[in-house]
Amino acid sequence: MTKRHEGNSIIVTGAAGAIGFATCEILAREGAELLLVDIDRDGLRDCARRLVDAGHHAIAHHADVSDEDATKGYVKAAMDAFGKIDGFFNNAGIEGKLAPTHEYPVDEFDRVLRVNLRGMFLGLRYVIPHMVAAGKGAVVNTASIGSERGLAGACAYNAAKHGAVGLTRTAASEVAQKGVRVNCVMPGVIETPLLVGMLEQMFDSVEAGMEKLGQTATLNRVGQPREVGDVVSFLLSEEASYVNGAKWEIDGGALATIRNDI
Ligand SMILES: NC(=O)c1ccc[n+]([C@@H]2O[C@H](COP(=O)([O-])OP(=O)(O)OC[C@H]3O[C@@H](n4cnc5c(N)ncnc54)[C@H](O)[C@@H]3O)[C@@H](O)[C@H]2O)c1
Repeated sequence: MTKRHEGNSIIVTGAAGAIGFATCEILAREGAELLLVDIDRDGLRDCARRLVDAGHHAIAHHADVSDEDATKGYVKAAMDAFGKIDGFFNNAGIEGKLAPTHEYPVDEFDRVLRVNLRGMFLGLRYVIPHMVAAGKGAVVNTASIGSERGLAGACAYNAAKHGAVGLTRTAASEVAQKGVRVNCVMPGVIETPLLVGMLEQMFDSVEAGMEKLGQTATLNRVGQPREVGDVVSFLLSEEASYVNGAKWEIDGGALATIRNDI
């Protein structure tokens, strides 16, 4: 049976992170050759080595996605290595400090927006031209359920994730007729270091926070990175050929309801 991503070249940012790497593993198993991008040099090297040791084609590229030259650099690295970019998982992100909006440190607001929104824009800005030139490509941006609801204490993260949906819809409307689809995923509460970073600021114990936030989902649990990766893989594939400008909730049903059973 042909693998879903056989022959596809895909860039994944935030590839050393939990959702990024889980997605890399899925894409690699489905036949993709990958360029892994992350600011965490050691984690990145380790992740690429794990994929290569498992027999997959993966290249590590250290870059800060919020830096324009570094973005041009990872796009060039992909073109040099593969000659084309079929897929792009625009996923790197940080949680930032938590504080009420009226007390939020201004420099921290700038830092979070710089990575989560400017970084996402730069990726679109420099990857999409190659897809347009080829007349084909698929992009998935990582938004959040925080793109749909307020999130007390996280004004910067929340604003950036709302912006991620705007970038997705706008880019999708611009390049659809040039053969390029742009969608986003909206993960809910997913068990990753980023979530732990938030829970440490919000709750006395990470475990209690995990249990409490898990209850926001109809499935009554937090999600796992692989459960995001499977949807990303689908959206990057030809099976999603009529899906464009969409935001896919991967939240165990959290946005679907106001839970009245707990
Ligand atoms: N975990 C959740 O509950 C959740 C929910 C909704 C959305 N998300 C989003 O999912 C994405 C992945 O996060 P995760 O949960 O896997 O967290 P994670 O911390 O495991 O992964 C994030 C990765 O991004 C990398 N990164 C951070 N800044 C970077 C930069 N400037 N340049 C390059 N790489 C950088 C980090 O080094 C890390 O490897 C993020 O965009 C996050 O906002 C996560």
